[in-house]
Amino acid sequence: MIEAAKQSEHEQLLIIDFGSQVTKLIARRVRESGVYSEVHPFNKITPEMLSAYNPKAIILSGGPNSVTGIGTPRADAAVWSFGVPVLGICYGQQTMCAQLGGSVETSDEREFGRADLYITDTHPLFEGLDTTERVWMSHGDRVSALPQGFKVIGTSGNAPFAAIADNKRRFYGLQFHPEVVHTVNGAKILRNFTHNIAGFKGDWSMAAFKDEAIAAIRAQVGQGRVICGLSGGVDSSVTAVLIHEAIGDQLTCVYVDTGMMRKGESEQVISLFSKHYDMNLIHVDAGNEFLDLLEDVSDPEQKRKIIGETFIDIFEREANKIGGAKFLAQGTLYPDVIESVSFDGGPSVTIKSHHNVGGLPERMDMALVEPLRELFKDEVRKLGQELGLHKDFVERHPFPGPGLAIRCPGAITKERLDILREADAIYLDQIKKHGLYNDIWQAFAVILPVKTVGVMGDERTYENVLALRAVTSTDGMTADYYPYSHDFLGETATRIINEVRGVNRVVYDITSKPPGTIEWE
Ligand code: XMP
Repeated sequence: MIEAAKQSEHEQLLIIDFGSQVTKLIARRVRESGVYSEVHPFNKITPEMLSAYNPKAIILSGGPNSVTGIGTPRADAAVWSFGVPVLGICYGQQTMCAQLGGSVETSDEREFGRADLYITDTHPLFEGLDTTERVWMSHGDRVSALPQGFKVIGTSGNAPFAAIADNKRRFYGLQFHPEVVHTVNGAKILRNFTHNIAGFKGDWSMAAFKDEAIAAIRAQVGQGRVICGLSGGVDSSVTAVLIHEAIGDQLTCVYVDTGMMRKGESEQVISLFSKHYDMNLIHVDAGNEFLDLLEDVSDPEQKRKIIGETFIDIFEREANKIGGAKFLAQGTLYPDVIESVSFDGGPSVTIKSHHNVGGLPERMDMALVEPLRELFKDEVRKLGQELGLHKDFVERHPFPGPGLAIRCPGAITKERLDILREADAIYLDQIKKHGLYNDIWQAFAVILPVKTVGVMGDERTYENVLALRAVTSTDGMTADYYPYSHDFLGETATRIINEVRGVNRVVYDITSKPPGTIEWE
């Protein structure tokens, strides 16, 4: 959660979160049109906070509650008197109406999924749109009477007040969700709100962000030393390059080769960062240490725990060797920072305990430098480009902290890792050769803990099975399997079986997430 509102030279928009699963998407869409936006929970909004943040417009998100329920969330009254345009989405529209003198009812006819919006008025919010638009609804409640000053500008089958406006006060409400891709022209509606109605110029760019971030890093660390765990993934690579540009030699990166990296990965990281960027880079070859500790360990959570703890031990050891550092750099992103408001206070279920460098700051008593805290993943990629980082790094698929360990169900051995590394490299080569790499969110091979019978030449074989995985996704939270052609799959399977000793069968994983997860463990 963001503790304090940011003071910025940019024009900025405030998103007040009422707990919707898709609030983050509002911020993304708004930023895509060059408008800086932050998400803050509804119960942290006060007149003082509004004055400090000084938004040029406000958006009220959707949420899981019913405005008709007792004690359910409301927008602080200061929102209505602040004098800037306000757009309420779904629950945001309903609370706007309820608070301003209209009414909301729980409808018998709930509306979930795709719906048609009939635009009944020419309005700047709908500039460039058709009179009938495909939108995405998700509501049980609906507005039943408008507050004074409002009029209807759009209707849908089950929501007579699907879009409303009080043009004088510049308050607007939408029953549907413009932030999701299923609302075909949703991005246009949000842009109309920010640019046409609120008058944003769209001054949020990566070039500006880069200069500001560099200045902020210099101001934060002064002459202090910064240490950074570098994995070669997009987030840690961009963090390292940005900080290096800000403070040069004051930064030391530590790359831990866990022995569970992909083929050629360590060489690539070391060569780029120590040779090309001339960074202080400590390369720790800890493959044997990790493998010894993981011997006979099959349980996925156990693997993650061992890897996480060992990583911290090694990192701490190396940091001590160079005499410590006052600051620890981490590639934390905005989605990790935003906590959607929890109304029931219940704990969320742990599906997998993710390993990053969690646990380090407390143990080492260092202050954190997190220059990517305000960015989404795609913005980090843009920043990487802005910094001139090689496209092999900027466009890289995500790679999990525990590496190949969680792509090797069952016990991990060097032999199985080597087979997996070879097969994975061929698979990725195929994807790149066929020009598919950037259409896929993540692709990798998994070596299964079973052997099957095959026949090669006249010989019977009894060897490993390899599963291929490829998914499309926007944030890794949900995913679909990638629909390769049969030709591609056939050609790839043949190459792997012919070129990798120890594999005689290849299968393709067609599970989406949910119910599966992206990784196999
Ligand atoms: P799952 O498998 O949970 O993964 O659907 C979602 C995304 O997160 C990555 N992932 C991890 N990343 N440490 C990480 O840094 C981990 O322990 C970890 N487990 C999964 C996964 O690769 C996918 O991109």
